[in-house]
Parts: sequence; structure tokens; C-alpha cells
Amino acid sequence: MSDTADAQEDAQGTLANLMRENRRYDPPKDMAANANVTADAYDEAAADRLAFWEKQAQRLDWDTPWETALEWESPYSKWFVGGKLNASVNCVDRHVAAGNGEKIAYHWVGEPDGDTRDITYAELKDMVCQAANAFTELGVQKGDRIAIYMPMIPETVVTMLACARLGAPHTVVFGGFSADALKSRTLDCDAHVVVTADGGYRRGAASALKPAVDEAVTGTDVRTVLVVRRTGQDVEWTDGRDVWWHDVVDRQSTDHTAEAHDAEHPLYVMYTSGTTAKPKGILHTTGGYLTQVAYTHWAVFDLKADTDIFWTAADIGWVTGHSYIVYGPLANGATSVLYEGTPDTPHKGRWWDIVEKYKVTILYTAPTTIRTFMKWGEAVPEGHDLSSLRLIGSVGEPINPEAYIWYRHFIGGDRCPVVDTWWQTETGGMMISPLPGVTAGKPGAAMKPLPGISCEVVDEAGNAVPDGGGGYLVLTEPWPGMLRGIWGDDERFRETYWSRYPGVYFAGDGAKKDEDGDLWLLGRVDDVMNVSGHRISTTEVESALVSHQKVAEAAVVGATDPTTGQGIVAFVIPRGDGEGTSGEEFAQELRNHVAKEIGPIAKPRQILVVAELPKTRSGKIMRRLLRDVAENRQLGDVTTLQDSSVMDLISAKLPSAAREE
Ligand code: WTA
Repeated sequence: MSDTADAQEDAQGTLANLMRENRRYDPPKDMAANANVTADAYDEAAADRLAFWEKQAQRLDWDTPWETALEWESPYSKWFVGGKLNASVNCVDRHVAAGNGEKIAYHWVGEPDGDTRDITYAELKDMVCQAANAFTELGVQKGDRIAIYMPMIPETVVTMLACARLGAPHTVVFGGFSADALKSRTLDCDAHVVVTADGGYRRGAASALKPAVDEAVTGTDVRTVLVVRRTGQDVEWTDGRDVWWHDVVDRQSTDHTAEAHDAEHPLYVMYTSGTTAKPKGILHTTGGYLTQVAYTHWAVFDLKADTDIFWTAADIGWVTGHSYIVYGPLANGATSVLYEGTPDTPHKGRWWDIVEKYKVTILYTAPTTIRTFMKWGEAVPEGHDLSSLRLIGSVGEPINPEAYIWYRHFIGGDRCPVVDTWWQTETGGMMISPLPGVTAGKPGAAMKPLPGISCEVVDEAGNAVPDGGGGYLVLTEPWPGMLRGIWGDDERFRETYWSRYPGVYFAGDGAKKDEDGDLWLLGRVDDVMNVSGHRISTTEVESALVSHQKVAEAAVVGATDPTTGQGIVAFVIPRGDGEGTSGEEFAQELRNHVAKEIGPIAKPRQILVVAELPKTRSGKIMRRLLRDVAENRQLGDVTTLQDSSVMDLISAKLPSAAREE
């Protein structure tokens, strides 16, 4: 595509728009005919955005109705001001009261084969009430913060809901994080109670959690550690501080009268990493957050609560788990799958066993997992009956068009729409996504802001780019699930999100509008490459590489280059057995492929074939570390890496890397 360089010249200071994608998938006819949401929703929300959200808030039960939909003093918002509700009652009690107590809330699947448990809404209500009573006995009061460091077991959901019930904001720390990470988060939000387990099952073995808690709470104000017995492994015990769940929770009454909390009462703090080492405690409150996750879960997944079996295959330790394993599905009275373990235990078809057994109808996961399945090859899902699926979704990173097509074909049987949902820990719920009964999907595009959401793609100066242009994503109107701040750090809140473009929220992501005005997310702005003065997104080059039939996954970075400013260095993981993917010939084939797909400007200078990529524990590629390798620098902070040995393997590859002269 030789005209891309010229086109780029016109759009000073913004991102290049290099990829063209012509495939389109109309919504299935029966889905469109029966869809929860039709195209009218966009018009309705555009005509009166606040009235639209007030209507969505009626999905919840309110003890006291709100007086004002929104009070907005940038950058602080208050939604449904004056309203009072209890999130736990909305997620559990009201479904029981409505006669749905026997309905299954979770099909829980432990990692060890056959270790399963079905939990009804009535059972969940009893468990939540018992936990709330136990917390009260342990001295927990409204407003206290509670840290949760647990495996994916029912007690984790129960703990979150018991916290919400009491108005004690929870902070869930992913169970794969270190003692240090747990400690810094516990200290930052000043939690005095930690809920954990002896361990959980990961990759076929019991993996301890309690030792990390013991280390983390030393020297803090934590006075109680409540421990679920999950694996039965030995644990150290500190009398007076440590309490077994089965000793204190199981003997409690299953009755608990919940207090209604203010709509703006803090629901949780979720830590997310920023550009500095100190994680940001993203604060979410009750009424607006619950409204947005309930609405988006119902609208984007076209949820039919009576018949769907919904599965978000993510960890509860991430915002995706908070919003779409716990609060959204439960607020809607859905039946969900909750799976403890990894996708390849005891074998690479574990997920497809689960889909087949429970007849999962909606599956929501991340591109990193989809690309891993591509790497493992289609023979794995092909041996399973996945015909129960009717809708599949993606979140967490841009989904490369080829990964989308693979997902749609091999998992979705070419009948399931793919919803590519863009959002962030900070947004609380989905923001940009197709609507499955309305949108003709484009592989790789998140398409349009959802009804009631307003965004724009702007250039350096903050002007909206025209269709066909690239720039930075901003959110231009407040939304109900938006973060209410960074815990204890107002200045960082203003600085990070509200200073670059005054009055609007800067998401930190690059994006483009295609010729139809549809949105494509292009990765974090920190990752943008500058090649001969052209600002090129990592996402587009990676997607071009993944569209080659022998590539499962790719990561590209810009490395200092004496002639072009930066040169593109690509790290690729081959599909299947990797035959024919070593040597200069393959590298040349890939370079030519990128040139053909998006233009010579984006041709990688160097291509390295690797077995793994460095990823955060939530599966996002850490390009920062690859830049260090590509520039022969000492590696920066590797503490958030999922597997630190990956970097040694990658660094060892460098001297022999194929290099274009
Ligand atoms: C990225 C996860 C492209 C993006 C819910 C965002 C995406 C960051 C998408 C937030 C998507 C998430 N397409 N990029 N569909 N979804 N991202 O806080 O860079 O873990 O800013 O929240 O993930 O990640 P977080």
C-alpha cells in the first residue's frame, strides 16, 4: 500500500492508519430478531444521556431513590445522588425473594478433575449472610478496607459480596502476585483484615497462598487473617491473628439484615499498574458502577438470564472478574461458570471440556489466551462439541484480525458473533463494543461507544481526527462506572487522566477511526513507534504478522536506529509445531508479508522467533522489556512478569537474530 506514507504525512503528529480490513460479519438473523438491544438504543441515549442511564439504574433495587442523576465537577462525578442501595442484596437476595433461589448462580469447577460444586442463589445468599455476620464478629465496620488474596473458589465471591453488604470496600489482590505486592496494596489502602486460603490449585498442584500473607502482613496493622481451607496443605499459624473460615463463618446465622448504602459509597479499590512502580488504587463506588456493569452485561452479551450459561474465563483478581464474573452476572441473576485453574490442566482441551459439559452459551476471554489456543492448534477444540456457544467476547488487548477470525471459526463455529469490548479498570465496565444484534462486526475493531458513552479520537492538539485518521482515545462525557479517583492520591488522578486534554478523560490508548467512522484500538501510547517520522502503532504491525499463516503471536517494539530514528524489531511465536520458521528465509517472508499487508514503512528491521513473550500476569505483553532487549540494555523492572525466565530465553536469541541489511 504505497499511499500510506503520503496519507500519514497529512496527519501531523497523530498515529498512522495502515491496516485495511474488508471482512464483515452481519449479526445472525435470529439473534438480531430477538436481541435485548436494538439500534434505537443509540438514538435514545443520544437524545438524553442522563435519562438513558436513569432508566438503566432501574435494573437495580433501590431502598431510597436518587434525586439527581449526575453531579459533575470535573474530574469528580457523583451518580444517582441521594440514592441508597445494597450491592449484595441486588446481586443475591432479590433473586431469592423473586422465587429464583433454586437457580444456579455458579457452576464452580475446581482444577482437580471432578472437583465441582453447583451453588444456587439461595445457597449463595446463606453463605454471604454468614460471612457478613462473621466479619461483624471480627470487628469489621462499614468503611473498613478488607484485602482478599484467594484462589478462584466460591468463598472469594462470597467474601466480596459480604464486604459489599457491610459497606467495607474490598481490595482483591491477584493470587499470583508476590508477598511484596500484597503488602504494598494492603498498606496503601490501610486494610486491617486479610482473607486468604491455605492455597489453591494451579497447573495440577496445590500452590500455597498463606506463606505470602504471613510475610506480607508482618509489620502492618493487619489484625486478622481469615483462612479458607482449600488444599489442606500445612500452614504456619499465628494465634490471635489467624482464624479458620470453617471455625468462624460456618457457625454463623444465615440471616443478616443489610443496610442500604449511599450510591457513592466505596465498593472496592482495584490496583492497576501505571508508568511508575507504585500501583494506582482505582476507586469504584456502588450505584453507578453496578448500573453500568448490569446494563453492559445484559446488552453486550445479549444475556437471556433464563437460558444462558455465561463464562468469563478470567481471574477475579482483575477488573474483568469483578465486573463480569461477580457484579454484572449476579446483578442480572445469571448462571455463570467459575473455573479455578489453568487452560492446559490436565490437558490443553480443559476449557472445551467445560464448555461441552455445562453447555456454555457465552464465553468471554482475552486475546492472549486466544493466541495461545492458536499456537496449540485447532485440533484441540475440534475434538469437542462447542455447539452450545452463541456469542463469544474478547477483552484486555487489541484482538488481531486473524485471532478474531480463528476465534470466530474454531470456537464460534462461524455462527457466533465476536464482541471485542474495550474498557479499563478505570472505566469499571465496557465502553466501546459491538452490539451483537445490531453491529456488523469487523475483525479487530471495537466499533462504537456503547449507548450512553461518549468518546473521541483526537490529535496532539486535542482536535477530533477525521474518519480515516489516527490519534488518542479520550472519553468526553462522564459515565456511571467511572473511577471516582485514585485511593489517597488526588494529584496523580488529575495528572494521569485529566491533564493532557483539559476536561476530558485521557485513556492512554492510541486509536483510529476507519473510513466508516468505526473505532480501532491501537495499543498503549507508550508503545507507539516512530519510524522515519511516522508514528506507527505496535498493534497494526503485530496484526499484520499474526495474519501470516505460520504466526500465532507477535510483539513489536521500536528500537533506536541511526537512520530511521526507530527501527521495528519483531518477536514472533510460530503456530503449531513451528516447522519452517527458523532462518533468514522465514524472516524475509514475514517482512514481505508485512510490506504487502500494510506497507514497506512498517517492515520489521529485525525478526526474532521465540517460544514465549514477556507478559503481565493479566496477559498483556510487556513491550518495555522487549525494548530493553532490542536495544541491548539491562532489563528494567521485571517484578510484574508472569514468568521471568522468559526474558533469559529471549535475550539469548538476540545475537543470532535475522537482520535486514
Ligand atoms: C487494553 C481490562 C484493545 C487497553 C478490562 C486498555 C484493549 C487496557 C481492549 C485496560 C480491547 C482492553 N481492545 N485494547 N478490546 N480491552 N484493552 O485495566 O490498552 O486491565 O487501556 O482493563 O487494556 O486494561 P485493564
